[in-house]
Amino acid sequence: MAFLQLQALCKRYGAVDAVVATDLSVEKGELMSLLGPSGCGKTTTLQMIAGFVDVTCGRILLDGRDITHAKPASRGLGVVFQSYALFPHMSVRDNVAFGLKMRKVPADEIQRRVARVLQLVRLDQHAERYPRELSGGQRQRVALARALVIEPPVLLLDEPLSNLDANLREEMQFEIRRIQREVGITTLMVTHDQAEALSISDRVVVMQAGRITQIDEPYTLYEHPRTRFISGFVGKANLLRGDRDHTGAAQVRQQPGDGELTLSLRPEKIDLITAGAGRLQGRIITRYFLGSQWLYRIDTAIGELTVVRRNNGQAPMNEGTVVGLDWPAELLRILAVDEVSA
Ligand SMILES: Nc1ncnc2c1ncn2[C@@H]1O[C@H](COP(=O)(O)OP(=O)(O)O)[C@@H](O)[C@H]1O
Ligand SMILES: [Mg+2]
Repeated sequence: MAFLQLQALCKRYGAVDAVVATDLSVEKGELMSLLGPSGCGKTTTLQMIAGFVDVTCGRILLDGRDITHAKPASRGLGVVFQSYALFPHMSVRDNVAFGLKMRKVPADEIQRRVARVLQLVRLDQHAERYPRELSGGQRQRVALARALVIEPPVLLLDEPLSNLDANLREEMQFEIRRIQREVGITTLMVTHDQAEALSISDRVVVMQAGRITQIDEPYTLYEHPRTRFISGFVGKANLLRGDRDHTGAAQVRQQPGDGELTLSLRPEKIDLITAGAGRLQGRIITRYFLGSQWLYRIDTAIGELTVVRRNNGQAPMNEGTVVGLDWPAELLRILAVDEVSA
């Protein structure tokens, strides 16, 4: 049985269905992300698990125990919210020790556990500092240490990196993953950032309008987005009209107009080759330099396509160039119609 289970969980605020009949199983030791646009019910789901928001219907099971109506403190879960308020008048060490003192843990054990967790988040050199003497990333680590020191069965993270700037964010993503693996702690992380979800999760849960619309490992989610919305929300996608050939495989309609299928083709799956060759002809309208890649916008008979090519150190193609476009037929993904609007 899964370690943390949500069974037909829902939350209504008056007329608003914030979370609708949600089933979810998080395995022990797994890092799972809840990914979705603002307002889709991620925080509400996490808060119900933490016990800060009452459940309207459904059940929450932790290691087989029904905790749906248990007091937050008795659940003993580790929580890090978007705005992790540290105690400003306490040192890093005292901030981290606070939860253990409240739990009346003996002083020598507190000292041991705080030292261990500060080492884990690489703040052992800064134990005597105050929050104002720390960088944003270091404060974030204190918040994480504070949650981890109580050795909770589950760690709940709500957009833990959203206050950090881009470079630090990426570094901290990998830090969270490293720490999560080292401790082996079951973790549910809320994010609206698809790159964050894809890069460090074992599995990603996509939410839209209070509902789960896909659960998959990051690679599978990216390569096989189920719906039109997901294909655009998780990575970039070219949406094309198409139909099936005589073997049943998807193919792009070469004439503009309606095929009966919506297809998704990732920008990096398209090759740019000599004009006259390939499946489609196009003209480069604009190009953007992304550092490790070039992004081209290309005008074709079936609409404007986005193509991403690796920066291999060679000069990029010029705007105005006529090119052939080609792609492996099996990388066209057939999308389902969105059943909910985000
Ligand atoms: N305390 C509340 N009272 C009324 N509506 C709320 C409350 N909290 C959240 N909601 C609504 O529930 C929906 C989901 O919100 P939330 O879980 O915060 O989304 P997310 O975290 O995905 O951005 C939104 O429509 C939001 O306006
Ligand atoms: Mg939220």
